[in-house]
Amino acid sequence: YTIEWDATAAQKGGYPSFMAKEIHEQASAVADTLRGRMENGRLHLDEMKIDESVLRSIDKIVVVACGTAANAGSVVKYAIEHWCRIPVEVELAHEFRYRDPVVTEKTLVVAISQSGETMDTLMAVRHAQEQGAKVVAICNTRGSTIPREADAALYLHVGPEIAVASTKAYLGQIAACYLLGLYLAQVRGNLFPDEIGAIMADLEEIPAKVQDVLDASGQVEDLARQMREATSVLFLGRHVGYPTAMEGALKLKEIAYIHAEGFAAGELKHGPIALVEEGQPVFVIVPSPGGRDSLHSKVVSNIQEIRARGARTLVIAEEGDAAVEPYADVVIRVPATRALFAPLLTIIPLQIFACELATAKGLDVDQPRNLAKSVTVE
Ligand code: G6P
Repeated sequence: YTIEWDATAAQKGGYPSFMAKEIHEQASAVADTLRGRMENGRLHLDEMKIDESVLRSIDKIVVVACGTAANAGSVVKYAIEHWCRIPVEVELAHEFRYRDPVVTEKTLVVAISQSGETMDTLMAVRHAQEQGAKVVAICNTRGSTIPREADAALYLHVGPEIAVASTKAYLGQIAACYLLGLYLAQVRGNLFPDEIGAIMADLEEIPAKVQDVLDASGQVEDLARQMREATSVLFLGRHVGYPTAMEGALKLKEIAYIHAEGFAAGELKHGPIALVEEGQPVFVIVPSPGGRDSLHSKVVSNIQEIRARGARTLVIAEEGDAAVEPYADVVIRVPATRALFAPLLTIIPLQIFACELATAKGLDVDQPRNLAKSVTVE
């Protein structure tokens, strides 16, 4: 007899889609991005070919990117400003290029692009270099155009990403930018070596925690299957949870074709709460109760407010955070970590939700309609 052998199915390694496979590779993806960086208490970024005197002189960082890469930029802004005390602007590359941005020799431009070929991002890089700025590329695809044209390139090392909707590259981009931020803090003397060591030690615990979230994926998969008829889903987050909300909404739009919006939780009362009606599903990303002073209780209040108006509250909260329980219809748990690192964990249930819901709808998860993996036109 003959055995049917499907090459594509084999590449998917038993997962129904490349996206599902790539989601489940994220623990090793982050580990690969971080590998081999600390030596004798110092962080090494040998690829940083920009002179240390230049890195010490910069007075502003501008992140340029599109899509998921831009959401990664919005996450790392919080960390880089906190560690390095340099203002960080995050700008969609296509908006940056065409508005006469203020860029000088003292600006460091960080171009984030999985493919390294996104034309909008490439044009932003060229424009910044014309103004005398140095550019660091954060990319996955070796030898692609953006890292070749940039002054320095940091690679993610997460392996090829096949699915159009980005998942493991997103985690790799965040981790790589954390390395960049800590390296800048080291060069500029913003953090003591033992502080950098402690932060790196917490970062190195992330891959195991990512695996814990992946091992618990069954709960979110069941939720997604129950919700396959949903027509609108909202996402709320605050601080680093805000870009996580944006990315969770983007995933759902991209592959499940569901109307989805991410909001800053503090903005709720200024508009979005008007959208909430009976049965409206709302994901809420809750900051750590151990994190910044009152943020946790403010977001818990937001959950109460939307639930009182009929929302179905789907709450992503740290293990042991009991304060959310009275107001949550569903609680999805993630391990505790440093507040700035939570986005590497809290996005995972939202990726799984979008992937499973689109699969349950019978959609082509890896090749969503109207989208391309790499957009090489302006
Ligand atoms: C396209 C893809 C997105 C991706 C964006 C940026 O629009 O569909 O998934 O986030 O490009 O891609 P890049 O390769 O520059 O990270």
